[in-house]
Amino acid sequence: MFEHKIAELEGGEKAVAFASGMAAIATSLLSILKTGDSVITHNKYTAQRTYFSRNRFRTRNNVEWVDLTDLSALDAALSRRPAKVLFIECPANPLVEIVDIPAAAKMAHDKGLTVIVDSSWAGPYVMRPLEMGADLVASSASKYIGHNEAMGGYVTGKAELVSQANNYMLTFGGVMAPFNALLTILGLKTLHVRMDRHCENAMEIAKFLEGHPKIQRVHYPDSRATRNTRSQNA
Ligand SMILES: Cc1ncc(COP(=O)(O)O)c(C=O)c1O
Repeated sequence: MFEHKIAELEGGEKAVAFASGMAAIATSLLSILKTGDSVITHNKYTAQRTYFSRNRFRTRNNVEWVDLTDLSALDAALSRRPAKVLFIECPANPLVEIVDIPAAAKMAHDKGLTVIVDSSWAGPYVMRPLEMGADLVASSASKYIGHNEAMGGYVTGKAELVSQANNYMLTFGGVMAPFNALLTILGLKTLHVRMDRHCENAMEIAKFLEGHPKIQRVHYPDSRATRNTRSQNA
């Protein structure tokens, strides 16, 4: 039931649930990348960075670290050598960087790459990467999707890629426990209400910090817009 619900919310053809976000991300990557394949990413979240750094010695995957907020850097990486996957974390952990997913996905697709987006920090109420051109969403459900009572993750998107990830999940065993699926489904019922409040609260904190004399810089997607509005008003 969780898989059906999350596929519908994200706009995926199919979904598969995992024990955690990292199980979803690592399994989907393993199901696509073969020995020697290249992947382009800007990974910010420590576990993902470690996954790519450590695993590339086993799989001999070449990892191109690129600042994906700079599309010319992505263009250069795409021209440097053929790659298999573009892995985008958006919003990125910990500096909440935003990537232009539609533009990046188009550039990657033109070169035949599969585009995976980790949108754990936004979730489907705030952002739907599949509508922006991603082939797969591989995200954590441990944060906003449930009520933080259960770990979880999911992969959703193109049916063929999701089935591939599902087959690897059956072998590697990162399956979501049925009780965690129940808790996460209960969390989904209040997702829209909680996300509106999270966004309101975060914006208030960003505005407060931005005006604070001891704060040099605020990393929040809307903070520059807020500053501009405030200086215009001033
Ligand atoms: C952006 C991002 N992706 C994935 C994960 C991993 O999620 P999980 O803790 O469910 O494995 C995290 C965890 O903090 C994260 O911040």
